[in-house]
Amino acid sequence: MRPEIVVLSDSDALAREAAELFAKHAAAAVDSRGRFSVALAGGSTPGAMYRLLAEEPYGELIPWRGVHLFWGDDRCVAPDDSGSNFRLADEAFISRVPIPPDNVHRVRGELAPGVAARAYANALSDFFCGPHARFDLVLLGLGDDGHTASLFPGSDALQEKASLTAAVQAHYRGSPVDRVTLTLPAINSARHVLFLVSGSEKARIVRAVLEDDQGFYPVQEVHPTAGEITWLLDEAAASHLQRDD
Ligand code: 6PG
Repeated sequence: MRPEIVVLSDSDALAREAAELFAKHAAAAVDSRGRFSVALAGGSTPGAMYRLLAEEPYGELIPWRGVHLFWGDDRCVAPDDSGSNFRLADEAFISRVPIPPDNVHRVRGELAPGVAARAYANALSDFFCGPHARFDLVLLGLGDDGHTASLFPGSDALQEKASLTAAVQAHYRGSPVDRVTLTLPAINSARHVLFLVSGSEKARIVRAVLEDDQGFYPVQEVHPTAGEITWLLDEAAASHLQRDD
């Protein structure tokens, strides 16, 4: 199935559209299945959207008691570390909404990477009652090298076909950092994958991953087997795409 590509005027419009989609998917999932499972993205892009989730009108539309938060990846750092993707979301909305603490399933980054990855896999298996995750929604960003979550070019984690998580060492924008990531089996079992990409510095890689069929980028391995992909781009990030209009 071809991905849906939605181009928004700017990053604020992208954040609003993403918050609206989050609220829509959350309400639909809780209504039909009694709960909503979502894996959050890290990085700088989703922050504006996360803040909106705690504010009108989105905060009241989301059935927080049925929402279960996971992460697409996180650094192996303490939850109060400035590099923690959990802390990013906690400060932006988790600490501001009535979500039950037991519904927040963070990567325990304070543990050794391998231990944290196994603990996270166990939490996923417990939640999904078996070895396969089926997230209602997976939020993902895009790095300028074509990585997503913490699935980086050349990473062994890209070959993982069974485990839902992997411990990786990321050499990206600075010194190597230990991380835990969802693997492709976990991402590709999602009902809906939502990419959030903003800024002119992403225009080259957006065109490469969406229009060049010669390249090989980890993000191009995201193909939900029974799900949909939506790309939310702002005009700047979409500026190199061949436009249909
Ligand atoms: C992370 C993310 C990572 C991120 C991309 C884009 O933990 O950093 O999982 O995959 O989404 O690197 O990051 P920006 O949004 O900061 O460009």
